Amino acid sequence: MKSPKRHLVTSALPYANGPIHIGHIAGAYLPADIYVRYLRGKEKDVAFICGSDEHGAAITLRAKKEGKTPREIVDFYHKLMGDAFHDFGISFDEYYRTSSPEHIEMSQQIFLELKEKGIFETHRSEQYFDAEAQQFLADRYITGTCPKCSSEKAYGDQCEKCGSTLSPTELINPVSTLSGSTPILKETTHWYLPMQHHSEWVRDYIENGKLNGEQHHDASKWKSHVVGQCLSWIDGGLQARAMTRDLDWGVPVPGEEGKVLYVWLDAPIGYITNTKVWAEKNGKNWEDYWKNDETELVHFIGKDNIVFHCIIFPIILKSHGGFNLPVNVPANEFMNLEGDKISTSRNWAVWLHEYLEDFPNRQDEMRYVLASIMPEQKDSEFTWNDFKDRVNNELADIVGNFVNRVFVLTHKYYEGKVSNPTFDASSQFEEAQTAFKTIGEKIEAYRFREAQALAIQLARIGNKLLTETEPWKLQKTEPEKTEGILNACIQLVAALSVALEPFLPYTAKKLKTGLQWEGVKWDDVQISQLIPAGHAIGEMPILFQKITDEEVAIQVAKLETSKVQPEVEVEAIKPNVSFEDFQNMDLRIAEVVEAQRVPKTKKLLQLKLRVGNEERTVISGIAESYEPEQVVGKQVLYLANLAPREIKGVESSGMILMAENNKGELSLLSPERPVESGNTVR
Ligand code: 2FM
Ligand code: ZN
Repeated sequence: MKSPKRHLVTSALPYANGPIHIGHIAGAYLPADIYVRYLRGKEKDVAFICGSDEHGAAITLRAKKEGKTPREIVDFYHKLMGDAFHDFGISFDEYYRTSSPEHIEMSQQIFLELKEKGIFETHRSEQYFDAEAQQFLADRYITGTCPKCSSEKAYGDQCEKCGSTLSPTELINPVSTLSGSTPILKETTHWYLPMQHHSEWVRDYIENGKLNGEQHHDASKWKSHVVGQCLSWIDGGLQARAMTRDLDWGVPVPGEEGKVLYVWLDAPIGYITNTKVWAEKNGKNWEDYWKNDETELVHFIGKDNIVFHCIIFPIILKSHGGFNLPVNVPANEFMNLEGDKISTSRNWAVWLHEYLEDFPNRQDEMRYVLASIMPEQKDSEFTWNDFKDRVNNELADIVGNFVNRVFVLTHKYYEGKVSNPTFDASSQFEEAQTAFKTIGEKIEAYRFREAQALAIQLARIGNKLLTETEPWKLQKTEPEKTEGILNACIQLVAALSVALEPFLPYTAKKLKTGLQWEGVKWDDVQISQLIPAGHAIGEMPILFQKITDEEVAIQVAKLETSKVQPEVEVEAIKPNVSFEDFQNMDLRIAEVVEAQRVPKTKKLLQLKLRVGNEERTVISGIAESYEPEQVVGKQVLYLANLAPREIKGVESSGMILMAENNKGELSLLSPERPVESGNTVR
């Protein structure tokens, strides 16, 4: 495949329903930014496109929760996210929004063109409708009992307790979250994308990189987890998917009252809209980026978006005709935080805008750590201690220390002028040149962790040279050699300033400013001769302040204190009973005096209780939580006047009361202070 003329790079449009956290950054934004900055370093024609995804239930649910309108929500988060990306150095060419008039127009137009081409099928179906709210209910607006695990809080599309994918009509006792009423089924018509007709070519596209019988891309460059997820979806049988919804927030379906486009139809079209918006501002033709086979399209996303970008959107694009399909979708896996999944609802996250406030002007420290642990092939983990170690031991001690020594010595010995190349540093230059070349290869293979490590390698090479030759000891006796060593080091600092640009752009800029050097194009880097002897360098600030234990402790405490405890699932409280009913129950404190397993059962213990002067025999289902010897001598809460029943051939009188935790473990209830056995509980 020949080298493309242009590059279109996208990052997933984040939902404008909450702030951006470091997991998002490591997943879809930092890798894309590194890739794009590298391409710009090669002076390629590249457009880096993103924006806010402002439709879908994610937005309306958030609005409902906060008592705001969807418009208020998206306006607020669009700005918060856009500013945070910008301040973190994510260098989008365009960050626009899907609630814009431009996007409504573009997505309606594409929908109509698809419709006119007969790409869709229409289906009538029955869907839940809230008669009180006079509204069809999106899957997320219906809760009910999960048919699989009986959790009472399952959603119309998914049960978060057992993870099953559901459809709303499977829920037992469905309830509308809008009004609390029971929804009714009502007929509605929608436009469906019959994906099942596309299985064959999609498989060929994913598996072999072929499109219309021709080689479209190198399938061996796709990540195996991306291909794996797609093939298992295709193997499971592609199905028709509704492309419209009965909602009032979204892109209106032209000519249809009360219907909007499915958010996963409108959102990826947002990439096209935003490219057009950017192109028009910059005197470019957007179609060069979307409708030209000399342009290479790459989507950066997180793993939860894989099928939308690799299967559904390509089907839409190809069915429409004329649009480019992605040559790669290098999705990342997930990043966890301090031993737990990052969660917006539980507020278990490092929010980007808060990091930028807590660590002003230290974007590169976080960029470095996130790129070092990027979940490229499997899930990874961020901890504040690891953040500290990497910043201190790698950025400060390796990069910062090297650059600082070179600047100090050049100022001290040569009044800030680059010394003469009077030392044979060819082996160092060769090693550095190879590392430099490999950085590009790794970036092109979407292996950003290794690429960044190779960039840091340039500083390691320089440090090693300084440590081995100790120019500060040679200056008096071997001034020529000293000059040559420092010249070589300056060349390495210059190479670093180019190599670090994709990863640590703020540091790269400081290096260039300090060197008083503009830099060169990526492909023109000849490390041995980047800066001529005699060139005057400027001052170099301390590049990286060390992270202190206190800073780590503050961040860890902040996480813990702001964590929201998950809502626990408790049974609904039963209807009221009278005080007389309550008094009719004879509750006592009893003492277990004997205990044995009921033969041939797993759950049952046979207990002998002392209740005042009486002894009672009770069969109790606690054998999975207690061994017989653990209960003997314990005081328990006992319902004495429950009518006796025969259980496994033994007459069981009354019942021992217990609590159960969410793991299903039973717990006997004992009085806090000693109470005489047989005393009443009121
Ligand atoms: O998962 C998400 O956050 C989606 N908003 C991503 C959309 S990507 C694209 F299709 F717009
Ligand atoms: Zn369930």
